[in-house]
Amino acid sequence: MKVLVIGGGGREHTLVWKIAQSPKVSEVYCAPGNPGMKNLAKIVNISVDDINVLADFAEKNKIDLTVVGPEAPLVSGIVDEFEKRGLKIFGPSKAAAQIEGSKVFSKNLMKKYNIPTAKYQVFEKPQDAIDYIHSVNMPQVIKAEGLAAGKGVVIAQDRDTAEAAVKSIMIDKTFGNSGNRIVIEEYLQGPEVTVLAFCDGKVAVPMVSSRDHKRVCDGDKGPNTGGMGAVSPAPAYSVELDQVVKESIIQKTVDAMAKEGMPFKGVLYTGLMLTQEGPKVLEYNCRFGDPEAQVVIPRLKTDLVDIMLAILNGNLADVQIEWRQEAAVCVVMASGGYPGHYETGKVITGLEDAEKTGAIVFHAGTTVKNNKIVTAGGRVLGITALGKDVQTARQKAYEAVSKIHFDGMHYRKDISK
Ligand code: AMP
Ligand code: GLY
Repeated sequence: MKVLVIGGGGREHTLVWKIAQSPKVSEVYCAPGNPGMKNLAKIVNISVDDINVLADFAEKNKIDLTVVGPEAPLVSGIVDEFEKRGLKIFGPSKAAAQIEGSKVFSKNLMKKYNIPTAKYQVFEKPQDAIDYIHSVNMPQVIKAEGLAAGKGVVIAQDRDTAEAAVKSIMIDKTFGNSGNRIVIEEYLQGPEVTVLAFCDGKVAVPMVSSRDHKRVCDGDKGPNTGGMGAVSPAPAYSVELDQVVKESIIQKTVDAMAKEGMPFKGVLYTGLMLTQEGPKVLEYNCRFGDPEAQVVIPRLKTDLVDIMLAILNGNLADVQIEWRQEAAVCVVMASGGYPGHYETGKVITGLEDAEKTGAIVFHAGTTVKNNKIVTAGGRVLGITALGKDVQTARQKAYEAVSKIHFDGMHYRKDISK
C-alpha cells in the first residue's frame, strides 16, 4: 500500500514512524513533512490547506490511504473532497469535524446528550458578554468559538481580564471569524487527562491515557503553548475512571454524533478535567493530539494501518488493539522566546547521539539549510522514551535531551512529574 500523511509536525513524524512499520505499507509520503522523516517517507511539498492539490497528488500517485494529522484541513472538509473523488482517507467529515471547529456546536451537543462539561453561555454580541461577566462570580473561562491554534482560551481571574478577552476576540478579531461567537464557561479544577479514541462512527475504542503539559515553564507557570511535553499513562487516571469515561463520555459522544446524522470516524480527542464531581469534558478535538501522539502511538503494539482500515470499513469492533505496558514520556525542545517571538535557522547538533540512547527523536519545526538541520519553528523536537515505568521513561528522555543543542533552546525539566 501507498500511504500519504498530511501535516509536518511532531505528531505527523510519529504517524509516519508507525505507519512505515506496517508490513502492508510499501511507500509512505508526507506533505509537507519535515527532515526528521526523510528515511521513512518521501517528502511532498504541498501545504496542508491545499486540499485540491493534495487530492490531485493522491489521484496521480495512486495513494491507497491518506491520513490527516492537523485539524484545519479536516474542519475545511478535506475528507469530503477525497471521498467525492473515491479516494480513501482517514479522518472525520466536515460535519463531524465541527466537534472541534465550533465550541458552540460541541457545548450544545454535550448539553443535549447529558455529557458532563462546564456550565456555559453563548454570546453573539460583545456587550451581552460584558454584561454577563458583571453578573457572575470570577474566575470564568472565555473561549473563541472557532479554531485559534490553541490560543483562543482565556482563564480570567478577574472582570478586567475577562472584558479584555471579550474585546480582543469579538471586537479586535484576534482570531478572525473564529471569534464571531464566544462561549463563557464555569472554571473547573482538577488534574487534566487526554483520552484519544479510535471511532468508526458506531464504536469507540479509547486508547491508553495521556497528559500534555501546556504551560511553557516548570511548575505549570507562564503562558500556554501548543504543548511542552506529554506522558502516558496519565497520572491520576485509574481503571475505574477509564470505565466511567468510556461509557458516560466517549461512547455517549459517538452515539450522539451518529444520532445527529454526522457519524464520527477517525480519532476523537477528549480533554478532561477530573473534578471532585467526576470527569468533565474541557474540549474535543477531531484528531490525534500533539504532543500526545508522541507518547500514545509508540505504546501501540497493533498495526495502525489495520486499525485505520477497519475504521473505514466500519468494523473496528473486530480488531484486537494491544498496548505495551511500558510508560512513555516526550520532552519538547523549543526555540528561545517561544511561545512569543523566536528566531529560526539555529543549527541543531547531537541528534544522532540522542538516538543512540534508545530514545526516538521526533522532528517538528526543523528544516535543512546548507546540509545542516536547523530550527524552523517554535516547537522544534519532541524526544520520546519508553521505560518500565514513568520515572524510567523520564530519565531516558532527559538523557537523550542532554545530547542535543541549539542556540536559545529551552525545555521543561518537569515533564511527567
Ligand atoms: P481548551 O482549548 O478548551 O482545551 O482549553 C485550553 C486549556 O485551558 C485546557 O487544557 C485547560 O487547561 C484550560 N481550560 C479550558 N476550559 C477550562 C475550564 N472550564 N476550567 C478551567 N480550565 C479550563
Ligand atoms: N495537545 C493539545 C492538542 O493537540 O490540541
